[in-house]
Amino acid sequence: MYSVEDCVVLNLSTIKSFSGNITVLQNDNKAPFQVKRIYYLYDVPVGAERGGHSHYELEQLVVAASGSFTFILDDGENKKEFFLNNPSEALYIKPGIWREIKNFSSGSICLVLASEIYLESDYIRDYDKFSLWKLKK
Ligand code: TYD
Repeated sequence: MYSVEDCVVLNLSTIKSFSGNITVLQNDNKAPFQVKRIYYLYDVPVGAERGGHSHYELEQLVVAASGSFTFILDDGENKKEFFLNNPSEALYIKPGIWREIKNFSSGSICLVLASEIYLESDYIRDYDKFSLWKLKK
C-alpha cells in the first residue's frame, strides 16, 4: 500500500527554444504507466476546491499545463502538499491516495494523464471508508 512519500514530482523531457518550449511524455519512454486517458480541468472558479476522493487502482500524472494549484495528498496517516506551477513537471499519484485540490489560479489548466479509462467503481469518495480500507491493507 502506497504512502504520500511514494508520490513524487517528475521532471518531464523538455525541449526549450527562444520561440517556446515543448514538453513530451511518451508511453514506453519515461511514462511510469501506459496512458489510457487524458482529461483536464479548466474554468475552475478562483476559490473552488476539487478532489475529495481516492482511487483503488488508478495511477495519475498531474501537470499544471497553465497557471498553478495545490494538491494535498493523504495516505490515511500522513499528508503532503504539492504546489504545481511548472508545465515541465508532473506529480505522480500512486493508487490509494486521497487528494484535495485547491488554490487554482485564474485561467489555470490541470492536465491529468491516467492509467485507466474512467470507472466510477474505482473511486472512494467517503473519507471514513478510505481510512478503514487503508487500515485493513
Ligand atoms: P472527479 O474525478 O470527481 O473530479 P475532481 O477530482 O476534479 O473533483 O469527476 C467529476 C465528475 O466528472 C464526476 O461526476 C465523474 C465525471 N468524470 C467522468 O465522467 N469522466 C472522467 O474521466 C472524469 C475524470 C470525471
